[in-house]
Amino acid sequence: MEYILEMKDIHKSFGPVKVLEGIDFSLIQGEVRALLGANGAGKSTLIKIVGGVHSQTSGEVFLKGGKVAFKNEHDSKSHGISIIYQELSLVPALTVVQNMFLGRESAGAGGFLRKKEMYREYERICKDFDFDIDPHTVVSRLSIAKQQMVEIMKAVSWNADLVIMDEPTTSLTNNEKEGLFQIIGRLKEMGKSIIYITHILEEVFRVCDSASIMRNGKLVGSYDIEELTKAKITQLMTGNADSRIKDSKDYHYADYTAVPVLELKGVSRGNVVRDVDMKVYKGEVVGLAGLVGSKRTEIINLIYGIDRKTGGEILVNGKAVDIRSPQQAIAHRIGYIPEDRKNLGLILDQEIYKNATAVQVSRFRKHGLLNRNQEIHFAEDGVKKLGIKISSVTQKVKELSGGNQQKVVVSKWLGQDLDLIIYDEPTKGIDIAAKEDIFRTIQDFSSQGIGVIFISSDLEEVIRVSDRIMVIRDGTAVCEMENRDLTVQDIMNKIFNV
Ligand SMILES: Nc1ncnc2c1ncn2[C@@H]1O[C@H](COP(=O)(O)OP(=O)(O)OP(=O)(O)O)[C@@H](O)[C@H]1O
Ligand SMILES: [Mg+2]
Repeated sequence: MEYILEMKDIHKSFGPVKVLEGIDFSLIQGEVRALLGANGAGKSTLIKIVGGVHSQTSGEVFLKGGKVAFKNEHDSKSHGISIIYQELSLVPALTVVQNMFLGRESAGAGGFLRKKEMYREYERICKDFDFDIDPHTVVSRLSIAKQQMVEIMKAVSWNADLVIMDEPTTSLTNNEKEGLFQIIGRLKEMGKSIIYITHILEEVFRVCDSASIMRNGKLVGSYDIEELTKAKITQLMTGNADSRIKDSKDYHYADYTAVPVLELKGVSRGNVVRDVDMKVYKGEVVGLAGLVGSKRTEIINLIYGIDRKTGGEILVNGKAVDIRSPQQAIAHRIGYIPEDRKNLGLILDQEIYKNATAVQVSRFRKHGLLNRNQEIHFAEDGVKKLGIKISSVTQKVKELSGGNQQKVVVSKWLGQDLDLIIYDEPTKGIDIAAKEDIFRTIQDFSSQGIGVIFISSDLEEVIRVSDRIMVIRDGTAVCEMENRDLTVQDIMNKIFNV
């Protein structure tokens, strides 16, 4: 049997830190193989070796039987490997079509792929994906979901033999996901091989033939999909026989007798957000359910001073406020864990502890000087509470795995004196076992009387953490439900208005 890719006894260290230890990983033609493991297990590092981003400390890589050692990303690409990285790699200032064909302008016969061909090719790919974006749109103007789609289309259009996808669906709508799964099916029929990294186990059973599971830099094993169940995967990932996830809420701290910590009265922004009424009480967790694109984040942007409302009133602790910036929101004791961690939540080039203390830096200042030890102590506390996998809080955030970066965003708000905290898709990229760590922070805030707004596209999560659930559709709140014996189906019915 010929392997398309074969990795033998791969080791990788960053300085003294061992990240991969003796990994054997192989893939045959036409196989769709899931690569699974907890946050920080080493998945992205392994595929970055295939992509020529990192080189292994020791071990060998074979492509179609021939030994390879890629010098850089371009080298890997020219060997027929196409990768969608976890961190999107589009150039924000270029248009969609420019991004799609970046780096292969020379593919055409005359040295350059002709413009007309590029647009024709683009149209063809869009049709394949049932996707409709003007090719002239500058990428920075697209939502993260759309950018992710462009990234996927770009990777697939390279016509590679091996396509690797590192958490490709984190921002996609269900329709877009379905589109991707169909494409994967078609690629497979064409004899392409695919490595698929995800934390959403339903996707594994939907598209993969087999799965390799990693734990702490080692390979636990490779399995045919028929041998696996969700519970077995979780157990293999964590090494824990009993790593069941709770599925219902078992605490209630909402105080409906006091003035709401937050109230929206008929809040609008043009046609985007329309006439929204909302109340969040002390210690209450309000879940916002809705489709991707239902404008939940747009509502939050008005509360947080990122956008300006054009109508209605926002009250904090019963008083009308006019919040014009995130700084003012923080001054009103409102915290925010944004969906877009790379642009809004973190400074990747800074140390973990600097990021962790960024929103409450005055706490660590005395006589104008920052107390670095206190900052470090605070950051270490967050690391412990959230089980963040790092070697030291003085590491740069960009060195962390995707899921662990997300946890740093959450850790910033721990121990803050808040009245309200907003979680926008906080479990994106978080492994199934570690989700509980995030949920525990919600419980902690709630038990201290802090109101919580929780946004997630995963309705099971919304049911798991909320006291009350509001359904948002097309920029407006369409209904509100006590979270008592609600099922995913109940909420779906409201979302789709059936
Ligand atoms: N450039 C680097 N320098 C130091 N450590 C690194 C670097 N890149 C990755 N690591 C470490 O290697 C480990 C594995 O990270 P990796 O990104 O491969 O995890 P992952 O399995 O992809 O996790 P996730 O599911 O969170 O994306 C992590 O502990 C991470 O901090
Ligand atoms: Mg990763």
